[in-house]
Amino acid sequence: MPKYYITTPIYYPSANFHIGHCYTTIIADAIARYKRLTGYDVFFQTGTDEHGEKIEKKAQEAGLTPKEYVDKIIENAKDLWASLGISYDYFIRTTDKNHEEAVQKIFKKLYDQGDIYKGEYKGLYCVPCESFWTEAQTVEGKCPDCGRELKLVSEEAYFFKLSKYQDKLIQFYDEHPDFILPLSRKNEMLNNFIKPGLEDLCVSRTSFKWGIPVDFDPKHVVYVWVDALSNYITSLGYPDENSELYQKYWPADLHLVGKEIVRFHTIIWPCMLMALNVPLPKQVFGHGWLKIDGGKISKSLGNYKDPREYINAYGVDAVRYYALREVPFGNDGNFSEEALIARTNTDLANTLGNLVNRTISMAHKYFDGIVTNPEVKESLDEELITSVLNLKDIVETKMNELKVNEAIDEIMEVLRKCNKYIDDTTPWSLAKDETKKDRLATILYNLLESIRHCAIYLSPFIPTTSATIFQELNTNQTSYDTLSHFGNLELNLKLNEPKILFQRIDIK
Ligand code: MSP
Repeated sequence: MPKYYITTPIYYPSANFHIGHCYTTIIADAIARYKRLTGYDVFFQTGTDEHGEKIEKKAQEAGLTPKEYVDKIIENAKDLWASLGISYDYFIRTTDKNHEEAVQKIFKKLYDQGDIYKGEYKGLYCVPCESFWTEAQTVEGKCPDCGRELKLVSEEAYFFKLSKYQDKLIQFYDEHPDFILPLSRKNEMLNNFIKPGLEDLCVSRTSFKWGIPVDFDPKHVVYVWVDALSNYITSLGYPDENSELYQKYWPADLHLVGKEIVRFHTIIWPCMLMALNVPLPKQVFGHGWLKIDGGKISKSLGNYKDPREYINAYGVDAVRYYALREVPFGNDGNFSEEALIARTNTDLANTLGNLVNRTISMAHKYFDGIVTNPEVKESLDEELITSVLNLKDIVETKMNELKVNEAIDEIMEVLRKCNKYIDDTTPWSLAKDETKKDRLATILYNLLESIRHCAIYLSPFIPTTSATIFQELNTNQTSYDTLSHFGNLELNLKLNEPKILFQRIDIK
């Protein structure tokens, strides 16, 4: 069985996740589910990034130790992922003992071989982003990522020889043209960061305590990004390169990350791995941001609701579907509750829900819900069947290119064709004529079989709805293999009663 290792970034623990945070995880989940469906042995990892000055400060404000603080707050991420149906295989916390020990070993190895050395750091640091900046990188003296004030820090520190790997990194990019996608992000990395010259990276701090101590010099804690990026291999057992998980899943097939952290994943992380003599991940995809009214989703602006409010109001699949369908993958997209409602109404309630409901209702009305297929074929049928069978290659191509929104739209297009097929064949008029009963049965079979195919294709995106459709169809034919043939829906089974899959929502 081929393997597929996919990761999301590990999240800063927060009590205030918004729909933008959910975006990375929903997409990663959809890709992981699609890969599982198509026969891959998938390892899908997410988790939390729990060290750093920012957390130390928040814990202090809450009157807790940092560990007490993160232990409490971590449940919020797990609860949110559960309510979104995120099917991760492993949840890593950077406060896990094995992770902390592995990071210490990584740091020591790099130090022993001369890739990390001691020096003095003088420069600018953004606490919320946990990022160091050079004067030239700042924008009007502020953090180029978040626009906030920078702190001038001066302290004894360890440095990683990033500069040593500059040429090797460029060569790696050249030899692996798909390493960074979309391409625009690769050009940004090359032109803005690598070609102007990589500077050695400060990889330890002494001005706060909440981090993994450098074991041979414990007044230093490991820079939080070195700690965090390592999660992708420590979870697999690294530095034990013989561990079963590491052997099986590394290198990662896909690191899916938001665009603002592409820099860490495509410069610092590959250079660390080269220094460790560990193979590099196959791909880093930097997706765009969900915005609100064209701007940032932000706690200080108070412009968002807890994503669970949308889930409770419209259902988990409506939220998943919206995130996956609305935004051309790679670009920024706008989030609004009105657009979520409109999308749910048009695609999920009208196109999908209506089709399933009216098809199963007709099968009950005209045949007591018993499926038969006397095979009275006409050219209209062939057209529908061809478009259903073509979906396999189309969806595969789109998913391999990570064009999730386009894959979904192709499936929707077939569902729209099914609705048109009903309008063109007018089953209700055939039902009036006893001699047309066989033709009517075939039409309904074709619709039910098309619905079965589409429900399988949709299962990575809206798994709860697909499961309901399989239950209504009363079918066991839900595997990917069954899609190469039109006609695998069992005959003479009795359909279950249709349920309303998506209620149309009124915009008040
Ligand atoms: N802890 C770091 C990642 C370390 S990975 C070794 C981090 N955490 S985060 O909690 O700030 O972000 C987690 C993910 O959420 C990132 O991929 C980030 O891009 C994504 N998003 C946060 N806000 C977002 C939007 N408004 N829209 C889309 N994704 C956004 O970064």
